[in-house]
Amino acid sequence: MRKHIVAGNWKMNNDLSQTEVLINAMKKQVKTSDAEVMIAPTFTNLWQAFQSTKDYDVEVIAQNMHFAESGAYTGEVSASMLKSIGVNTVILGHSERRAYFNETDETLAKKVDAALENEMRVIFCFGEELADRKSGKEETVVENQIKNALFHLEADAFKHIVLAYEPVWAIGTGETATPEQAQDMHAFIRKTLAAKYGTEVADSVSILYGGSVKPNNAQEIFSKPDVDGGLIGGASLKAEDFFAIVNAF
Ligand code: G3P
Repeated sequence: MRKHIVAGNWKMNNDLSQTEVLINAMKKQVKTSDAEVMIAPTFTNLWQAFQSTKDYDVEVIAQNMHFAESGAYTGEVSASMLKSIGVNTVILGHSERRAYFNETDETLAKKVDAALENEMRVIFCFGEELADRKSGKEETVVENQIKNALFHLEADAFKHIVLAYEPVWAIGTGETATPEQAQDMHAFIRKTLAAKYGTEVADSVSILYGGSVKPNNAQEIFSKPDVDGGLIGGASLKAEDFFAIVNAF
């Protein structure tokens, strides 16, 4: 049975006190679904968030990491440093990292390897640009992103990988993919996985949708058979909205 997961990607939002305020507001929310809940604060707030959620069933995860263990990488953070503060899951390949920091499929393959070598779980992001979809290339783009960064892995590695399909044109735009568009792409992704690793592995991997998920559209998107949850940006910054999405299963 695949896991339902709802992860809040806070991006570059919330200082230390705002992080505490949001976590306390989340603790007042009632969770009625079986979804695993995760939050991804910025690096500066991870330790505090981890301390504040020790007795709270929410996993604190990282938004990124470097592939090196240590060294001359100013401004970067390694997997072992994240593990040392109790963070065991990391988001990799977000479109904003690809766009603003030139993260290539090859770089991401190295980051995935480093995370797995450090026994971390990976939420691997990918998705097409609007121009790709308008020209009917969305499946080719997504297939290449997945194959180039993940298909060097052994089947067993996928026990530690969650996939997140985030059409770039839906991120932060309010232009959500329709539930049918999400389902079609998720089914294509699962078929692509099955062709390489077999249906047992493909059926075991949780595939999240991200891109303007809100309280008013989450239920329909999450009702689709190949959608196993969401990677939530803006709506994760308000506790009530985030839990309306968490409870949308
Ligand atoms: O990683 C999730 C994010 O990219 C989606 O952002 O604001 O469209 O929910 P948003």
